[in-house]
Amino acid sequence: MKHKTIIEPFKIKMVEPIKMSSEEERIEYLKKANYNTFLLKSDEVIIDFLTDSGTSAMSAEQWGGIMIGDESYAGSRSWLKMEAAVKNLTGHEYVLPTHQGRAAERIIYGYLGGKGKTFISNTHFDTTRANIEFSGAEALDIAIPESNDPSLIHPFKGNIDTQRLEELINEKGAENIGAVILTVTNNSGGGQPVSMKNTREVSAICKKYGVLLLLDSCRVAENAYFIKHREEGFENKTYEEIAQEMFSYTDGSAMSSKKDALVNMGGFLSLRDKKIADACTNLLIITEGFATYGGLSGRDMEALAIGLKEVFDPSYLEYRIKSTAYLGNKLHEMGVPVMLPIGGHAVYIDAKKLYPHIPVNEYPGQALACELYTKAGIRTVEIGSVMFGKYDENGELIPAPMELVRLAIPRRVYTQSHIEYVIETFDEILKTKGQTVGVKIVEEPEFLRHFTAKFEKVETDNVVA
Ligand code: F0G
Repeated sequence: MKHKTIIEPFKIKMVEPIKMSSEEERIEYLKKANYNTFLLKSDEVIIDFLTDSGTSAMSAEQWGGIMIGDESYAGSRSWLKMEAAVKNLTGHEYVLPTHQGRAAERIIYGYLGGKGKTFISNTHFDTTRANIEFSGAEALDIAIPESNDPSLIHPFKGNIDTQRLEELINEKGAENIGAVILTVTNNSGGGQPVSMKNTREVSAICKKYGVLLLLDSCRVAENAYFIKHREEGFENKTYEEIAQEMFSYTDGSAMSSKKDALVNMGGFLSLRDKKIADACTNLLIITEGFATYGGLSGRDMEALAIGLKEVFDPSYLEYRIKSTAYLGNKLHEMGVPVMLPIGGHAVYIDAKKLYPHIPVNEYPGQALACELYTKAGIRTVEIGSVMFGKYDENGELIPAPMELVRLAIPRRVYTQSHIEYVIETFDEILKTKGQTVGVKIVEEPEFLRHFTAKFEKVETDNVVA
């Protein structure tokens, strides 16, 4: 028989207790955290959907690998395994291990960036943008226009606008383009996939102008799932083959392995060009560690090599994508405005639509994140004007194109009943939405303000009990 229920394709061998809390306690915890979910303690959280990064449950095989990690400073066995796994996947000749994605980004964008350079992406993730801007370069997002309409159904909303890409290269001058970066899946644009066709087209444009094409590949396995099931010609390819083909069109890649390599820490930079790889290796050794461990322990590299294979297991990927879609589609059916179609690693709620009475300068996304925490201990993150807003010369907010809240789902961590608990919470969110109030920023840093900004409720006594 063909079952409708997609079960978790694993058994639980070890458990981590969740500390339960009451709504009264959470109101106090949130106030102490200045209404910023990043400032909560994990013990104050029941369901942690803050991120899918570094939060995966490792497999028995990965934990087994941890025990045989080779901690040699140079030429570690575990490094050789990791290097082989990365080369097999990317086809890139040079592999540089880093402690996480942004370390790879700092190295490559520090090297390619600088004043006068422009980077072009479907959407730069926040650390990618920050590393580029920190180098003095500019970062432009040009996903297809469909990506800005949360309710529009499109199979590959993560695609780059290729016409705009070519225009921009001509406008800026090819010699001033640091790189084109395809982020798969497009995290900040709603976890939406990029098609192989778009990748081929972007690659052809980059080749025509002699511009580097890099893959931000942290969710490349999830992206491969969508290609196999949505794009013609890939039905009979394995997920790994699809990912390999995608890498084949690129000159390099930065991967935060904390996502699709199913590890708690790790990353890499992979490159085709020796000159760039040599320069980056210098920076790696100065700032991360020797070339055969970067910022990683031998055991981390061992687990990473195993995870990079496990993630392409068809039963894992089917469970992963379908369980995310289960949550998203249930919320959609209930009338919660979600970004459609549902992405791979997360469900994104359109907070602007949910709370039309909260103006963007009172951050509707942050308001929803606060409500989810207070009502159920669910920790999420705003991906909107708190994360991407800027100020004009007069100090007025230039809002982000969308006000989203991300429910990022850790890999292999939560069960169906955890998800049902989350769905139930949204009943209450919908019932009380009219009484939800916005927030204002009372303190913020210059870069990546969402991590540490402090907020106040616009009307302090309006938290709904
Ligand atoms: N690129 C993308 C697309 C990402 O989603 C992330 C991290 C990074 C790069 C940076 O990697 O954290 O290992 O330094 N995203 C996490 C998230 C933090 O929650 O989406 P990192």
